[in-house]
Amino acid sequence: MSILSKFRFGLKIVGGSPQRILNYRYGSQCGDVDPEVMKDLEEGYKKLASSNSKSLLKKHLTKEIFEKLKTKTTPHFKSTLLHCINSGLCNHDSGVGVYAPDPEAYTVFADLFDPIIEDYHKGFCKAAKHPEACFGEGKDFENLDPDNKFIQSTRVRCGRSIEKFPFNPCLTEPEYLKLQDMISCALMSLCGEHQGKFYPLDGMDPAVQKQLIEDHFLFKEGDRFLAAAGASRFWPKGRGIFHNEAKTFLVWCNEEDHMRIIAMEKGGDLGRVYDRMISGVEELAKELKFSRDERLGNLTFCPTNLGTSIRASVHIKLPNLTKKPEELQKLADKYNLQVRGTHGEHSEAKGGVHDISNKRRLGLTEHETIREMHDGIRALIEAEGKAK
Ligand code: ARG
Repeated sequence: MSILSKFRFGLKIVGGSPQRILNYRYGSQCGDVDPEVMKDLEEGYKKLASSNSKSLLKKHLTKEIFEKLKTKTTPHFKSTLLHCINSGLCNHDSGVGVYAPDPEAYTVFADLFDPIIEDYHKGFCKAAKHPEACFGEGKDFENLDPDNKFIQSTRVRCGRSIEKFPFNPCLTEPEYLKLQDMISCALMSLCGEHQGKFYPLDGMDPAVQKQLIEDHFLFKEGDRFLAAAGASRFWPKGRGIFHNEAKTFLVWCNEEDHMRIIAMEKGGDLGRVYDRMISGVEELAKELKFSRDERLGNLTFCPTNLGTSIRASVHIKLPNLTKKPEELQKLADKYNLQVRGTHGEHSEAKGGVHDISNKRRLGLTEHETIREMHDGIRALIEAEGKAK
């Protein structure tokens, strides 16, 4: 029996709304797509096509592309189109709706990923190549809100995958544990400002976990978009969080990506936060080998995070603009910003506090990414003053 015919892709739904549970296996012949998978694909596609979903998946998965891709599998992990699109098929309210189960999926299913990538990252076309890494320095970005009138906190994160490991849907339980081991060991080597402790999620005191989530330090559990993508298997095994004592430098282990490297603090000193993230990433790169693709830069599970993988965000109070949501959205679009609710993605803005960040991460350098966010936030603060 080939290793591929074992159940590797069963989805355990953690919390969230009830939804179809994928639990299937591959046929014994490599390259075959299991009939059950094909049935789910056909039915799911039909439902999506007749829905009013606004997702990029619905927009770009034409009948022609669907027919072309539905029988394909990736060479090594045998991931199917269903692995890539199940999240968007189960969640019609997705903004995007696709994930790459393994790095090869970006090439095998390029007819779907490429147009989605081009749409999300504003013009990163098929022939485009992500530039070499160029972080620059935090000192180029002055404090956005020195009087502390608007910005409550600033956060800069990037995602990293470890070479030779696939993404969530293809990881085995021992691989999750191996990754956690490698990552927590590397984190132990950090010193100075970055020095801290790793806390595995498995066995964490629920009260501690709740507090960490409320303080925006820890990822939330039971994300239905991730669960449907096959990213919650063996939860909470292999998952964890690292933070320094001040909780200004954090690393998530095996949530959506193998690693999320995060710097954050109260106030609007973007440059200082950015510098802290850069030095953390540079130290960790001495211990771990990160996956990088010639065309797509840093490789991540979700195509929205490719390239620099940087999301620089602020929690910002804009009471006047909040009363004019169309104007806020228009400005955000103009400056390539994304507006999220107070508790991040797919959440509400409580008390007029928004989470606003850069949207594009691919096709521009790290320094340019931060510049785009910095200039956009400055423009929003200016507009807030005039929007009375
Ligand atoms: N799949 C979700 C959606 O399409 C999230 C997309 C981007 N966010 C992320 N955490 N990868 O809405």
